[in-house]
Amino acid sequence: MPLRSTHWFGLQDRDGFIHRSWMKNQGFPSDLFDGRPVIGICNTFSELTPCNAHLRQVADRVKRGVYEAGGFPLEFPVMSLGETNIRPTAMLFRNLASMDVEESIRGNPIDGVVLLCGCDKTTPSLLMGAASCDVPAIVVSGGPMLNGNFHGERLGSGTGVWQMSEDVRAGKMKIADFFEAEACMSRSAGHCMTMGTASTMASMVEALGMGLPHNAAIPAVDSRRYVLAQQAGRRIVEMVHEDLRISRILTRQAFENAIRINAAIGGSSNFVLHMLAIAGRVGVPLTLDDFDRVGHDLPLLVDIQPSGKFLMEDFYYAGGVPAVVRELADVIHRDAITVNGKTIGENTADAPCWNREVIHERANPIRERAGLAVVRGNLAPNGAVIKPSAATPSLLKHRGRAVVFESIEDFKARIDRPDLEIDETSVMVLKGAGPKGYPGMPEVGNMPLPPKLLARGITDLVRISDARMSGTAYGTVVLHVSPESAAGGTLAVVENGDEIELDIDTRKLELRVSDDELSRRRAAWKPAPDTWTGGYQRLYIDHVLQADQGADLDFLVGCRGAGIPRESH
Ligand code: FES
Repeated sequence: MPLRSTHWFGLQDRDGFIHRSWMKNQGFPSDLFDGRPVIGICNTFSELTPCNAHLRQVADRVKRGVYEAGGFPLEFPVMSLGETNIRPTAMLFRNLASMDVEESIRGNPIDGVVLLCGCDKTTPSLLMGAASCDVPAIVVSGGPMLNGNFHGERLGSGTGVWQMSEDVRAGKMKIADFFEAEACMSRSAGHCMTMGTASTMASMVEALGMGLPHNAAIPAVDSRRYVLAQQAGRRIVEMVHEDLRISRILTRQAFENAIRINAAIGGSSNFVLHMLAIAGRVGVPLTLDDFDRVGHDLPLLVDIQPSGKFLMEDFYYAGGVPAVVRELADVIHRDAITVNGKTIGENTADAPCWNREVIHERANPIRERAGLAVVRGNLAPNGAVIKPSAATPSLLKHRGRAVVFESIEDFKARIDRPDLEIDETSVMVLKGAGPKGYPGMPEVGNMPLPPKLLARGITDLVRISDARMSGTAYGTVVLHVSPESAAGGTLAVVENGDEIELDIDTRKLELRVSDDELSRRRAAWKPAPDTWTGGYQRLYIDHVLQADQGADLDFLVGCRGAGIPRESH
């Protein structure tokens, strides 16, 4: 089958002249247009995305590998989403970035693509866009930062911030120390080095078979990260020759493997949204309940923050994702094919583990049944998720009175007030933070506790919202309540003092208010005025799916392939 790029560079007419001639202004010799595979290097480099700011150097190594294997590498930028800077939330733009990726791949003479990503949303947006094109693709993650180190102790990205800011609020840490910790936490290139969403998604890249072994954990500044990039460059050329497209790798089996491996690594709850969205793009049926059914009984094997103590650098030295997959050999689909042409079982059959404190054996797990739980009930008819491994065990079965915040701004205005009526039995409820409501579903579900409870040594409460939670956060936090409050879900009509029941064993999330009363409240409910009159935000609000469907835009779901019906000239 002729390569896609021959429909550009192989044309022997005026159009071929145009396609080749303008490219030659970059100094490319004629033999690069001789029909060899053209490899796009899709780069989320940006100085505004600090986690990805080193990706131009990584791209250079990918190019080296592509040339070695007889390909023609061409790097192109796509929208880059930096979790720490972009407002109102990077998640609002995940789908927009995926459109950029999809159309950039489809519209250009690209036969295969290397996806360079790192920070949280960059990985799913690239996978979503590439999956909708179904071309050969391989992911190279930028890698985690080196371990943070502050006053002689490990300091994890995100996780350390939440802990230290609570300590400042409780009067246990000086503000000068807090500021000093900034540079101690982020001390090298790379993304968050806890098992936050970036490390989770990089691990999912390996679990899905979309990256080479050890893609997730090699530190960004370790020379072996650059070896992996070069090898990926070589391999993508072979993948084009083999026509090893995304749809052959991202199968139902691959997603089930990813769900299981996510439980064992203690991965972020955000992966649910991203996996649902990626599966939707490639056309694999995957539902919210699959995450509980497939993954919940799996044990936690990796002792890593936010639920454990180590960091990604330790995880790499201990054996990384391959060592975890080996432990799970009897419960994963070992014959799922991966980008290197081997199965995940072949890739990991002999994977060594060098440190059993970091990666535990199946016979000695850190925690049994560590996967996400999906809870339902009248408060979340379409489901909500909780990460029991990050929760307080005694709160996993709990009844308490609601303390309601109508928005995150309402929460911030009142949480520090001494007269806030709240105690250790209360259930904090946040509205207006779902996909449509914010818009963009920010990571605010792990609401900080009120200072007056922190001062009493209380470190966790049940918290419920339609928001997401940073993968670096922890607590008994029920997230992604669907339908969200802005879409008229039951969450919208919860009132202060209502009793709420959470029971993880029976997967129940109930608002203990009579049906008659709920009907009365629903009839009286009016959506908050929507101030977005135009632009992408308007498109997003009008088309975003609810969290239980991955929060993709409805018209982006599905694989549209790489074909283009019209010429450009
Ligand atoms: Fe980029 Fe955490 S802020 S990975």
